Amino acid sequence: MNNALQQLQPYPFEKLRALLGSVTPNADKRPVALSIGEPKHRSPAFVAETLAANLDQMAVYPTTLGIPALREAITAWCERRFDVPTGWLDPARHVLPVNGTREALFAFTQTVVNRSDDALVVSPNPFYQIYEGAALLAGAQPHYLPCLAENGFNPDFDAVSADVWKRCQILFLCSPGNPTGALVPLETLKKLIALADEYDFVIAADECYSELYFDEQTPPPGLLSACVALGRKDFKRCVVFHSLSKRSNLPGLRSGFVAGDADILKAFLLYRTYHGCAMPVQTQLASIAAWNDEEHVRANRTLYREKFDAVLEILAPVLDVQRPDGGFYLWPNVGTDDTEFCRDLYVAEHVTVVPGSYLSREVDGFNPGAGRVRMALVAPLAECVEAATRIRDFIKR
Ligand SMILES: Cc1ncc(COP(=O)(O)O)c(C=O)c1O
Repeated sequence: MNNALQQLQPYPFEKLRALLGSVTPNADKRPVALSIGEPKHRSPAFVAETLAANLDQMAVYPTTLGIPALREAITAWCERRFDVPTGWLDPARHVLPVNGTREALFAFTQTVVNRSDDALVVSPNPFYQIYEGAALLAGAQPHYLPCLAENGFNPDFDAVSADVWKRCQILFLCSPGNPTGALVPLETLKKLIALADEYDFVIAADECYSELYFDEQTPPPGLLSACVALGRKDFKRCVVFHSLSKRSNLPGLRSGFVAGDADILKAFLLYRTYHGCAMPVQTQLASIAAWNDEEHVRANRTLYREKFDAVLEILAPVLDVQRPDGGFYLWPNVGTDDTEFCRDLYVAEHVTVVPGSYLSREVDGFNPGAGRVRMALVAPLAECVEAATRIRDFIKR
């Protein structure tokens, strides 16, 4: 067996099952889960129709590179969304379809990490656990940067030592963050690109929540926007990860893309060819339909906005909680032990949330997720309101 597997941490939901397995929830109340980060809004019908209309494509082997029409649709979307000037992104070299960002983040790390070095993979803390597992299985050491309230829930990149940057091979960013909802500001992205040049590391920007934001007039910037602002036409050392899972409520379609540095994507394509993870052609065709439409994405944002408005109105008077920059999570400070809070809330109110300390690692005796919980507002409005009301009553008691 690959002995690196022993280094993998249990997934947060395994820990949660163990925490709640030994207690009995209030049977008088029906269960409400704010724990799962799975989109629950309806998938767009036209995507399902396109998929169904192209099932005959099951008869062909897809290529890892994907069909040109998909890479062109993705390129056009990037141009519209991040103001990338026409011609900067070459669909043939700067874009690759992936089967969701999860597998892409994992496989990308295997491609980029050079095992012969004293490699570090640097990530925010708390973080999406794939970054850590991918680093460990690639033979690198994860290095965690705490995301604290006093720094807007972003890492304090100025506090990172030159030694860490020298050893860093990949810097993971997650913007808007899971679970913090924090956006990495454009100026920070520009500074990080300068650091990547100075210390020769790759920035992997996980932007799978980028389309869930609140102000229709100001879509949040991403790493591609920073490249545009810097006139960085070759996107050197920069790769972004995008997905239809959250944007279009298609977590089961398994469709996303990576875009950026052509040399890195060439190596990634080679890796993927052996990895055997080409996207089925019918999925590619359905994905084109999804990337070409923004109406369903705007409708999706409206649903989240309604839920955040309603839930924050109920919780803000009793809880230290802020509206995030984007995404679908709340990351409140519960002012007490987060695991106890989750367990007691489950017992009293049959509401499930995730302890913050399960989503982050303790470094030097300090866990930046401790004392916080993650609440995903994915359930329908009425259910989110019901959960928020029960949480408020629980806290008041
Ligand atoms: C931060 C983050 N990145 C990536 C993913 C993976 O999403 P997908 O593989 O569906 O694109 C998730 C899913 O929850 C996530 O929270």
